[in-house]
Amino acid sequence: MSAYFARMLEQYGCNVDGIWRAVVDAGKQVGLTLPPLTEEVVVEDKTFAIVKKLGEGGFSYVHLAREIPDLASEDYALKRILIHEEEHQGAIQNEIDVMRALDHPNILPLLYAEIEPHRSPPPGARVFVRKRASLVFPAYLDGTMFDRATTRPEADAFTSTQLMSIAAQLCDALECMHTLSPPLGPIAHRDVKLDNVLLESSPETEGGLKAVLMDFGSAKPAKVTVTDRSQALLIQEKAAGECTASYRAPELWDTPSECVIDERVDVWSLGCLLFAATAAGKTPFEYATDAAGGSLALAVMSGKYAWSEAARKAYPREVMAVAECCLEKDWRARPRARDVREKAREALATTRRKFLGGGGEGAGDDDEPAVLVTEEV
Ligand SMILES: Nc1ncnc2c1ncn2[C@@H]1O[C@H](COP(=O)(O)OP(=O)(O)O)[C@@H](O)[C@H]1O
Ligand SMILES: [Mg+2]
Repeated sequence: MSAYFARMLEQYGCNVDGIWRAVVDAGKQVGLTLPPLTEEVVVEDKTFAIVKKLGEGGFSYVHLAREIPDLASEDYALKRILIHEEEHQGAIQNEIDVMRALDHPNILPLLYAEIEPHRSPPPGARVFVRKRASLVFPAYLDGTMFDRATTRPEADAFTSTQLMSIAAQLCDALECMHTLSPPLGPIAHRDVKLDNVLLESSPETEGGLKAVLMDFGSAKPAKVTVTDRSQALLIQEKAAGECTASYRAPELWDTPSECVIDERVDVWSLGCLLFAATAAGKTPFEYATDAAGGSLALAVMSGKYAWSEAARKAYPREVMAVAECCLEKDWRARPRARDVREKAREALATTRRKFLGGGGEGAGDDDEPAVLVTEEV
């Protein structure tokens, strides 16, 4: 028995969790059923032990998890979604298919995914039996852009370099989706926002922060042709359920009866995200309605917003211009992700030149610490 235990300890690792798991397995050998210390979830034949909660969304919880046995000592994020109806299952399957088709350094990779096999409803019942989907990703433990924007002072959460570097990285990620080949692509993300961008400190990235786009639960074919009023209303209704209101593009609030909407809904959301990163998490139109009252929908459709005093002091014109070009009301005149990326890169180069010329970062902000290459993240 002691040799057996020694072998087990070697296999499971010598911590309380590992020891208990060895005891549970040993118990099984003699017909004893002992409860695991932590909840365990099997996804594609891999077993993951839940460590703690990382975040939550509408119908999902995301937990930090470790594989059993924990040979690689990797941190995983396990997203568990409660599927409550047939249509919802289709949406989750779409999220899985889209993520499997994408392969980009600024897009969260999906490692494993499984939807619980179908269980038949009780005889006579016509209800959908609720089930769970489990998706496993690498865990990013430095939090989201929203966490950073809301836990640091306004206009101080991201330097100009960080903001423009993140803008360029997100444009790269969006371009990958927007140019994905058929049959699945091209696709639009449709829910670009601070909460859906994970950050990781990365010394090799300019500004020191790597940005990773996640949450493809609202992703849709990029081009949508609208030919009549009822179609337009349907698109608005769907967008209301899937695309966060304060980041939602004007053409999804008030869809014309004859038009072709495209992937530039994401570019609008990116503009909102860049603004919100400088404004403690508030998007331009939330900011406008907070100041003047009125409805968010009207504020978005008016296209009018103003930068905070703090942002105007902290960021130079060319940085603000990148967000502004995304916030073009008419999507047919709005730039595409690749155009915004070029603008962000130019702004980065200007910031770099100013820094080398001794101007420091920011607008006229001589007091801001002039850090670029080794800035504190
Ligand atoms: N890979 C990950 N690493 C760390 N935290 C994560 C990861 N994935 C998700 N999260 C956290 O969980 C939250 C919800 O995840 P998300 O995929 O956006 O779910 P939902 O579709 O319900 O919005 C995120 O805002 C983030 O805080
Ligand atoms: Mg989300």
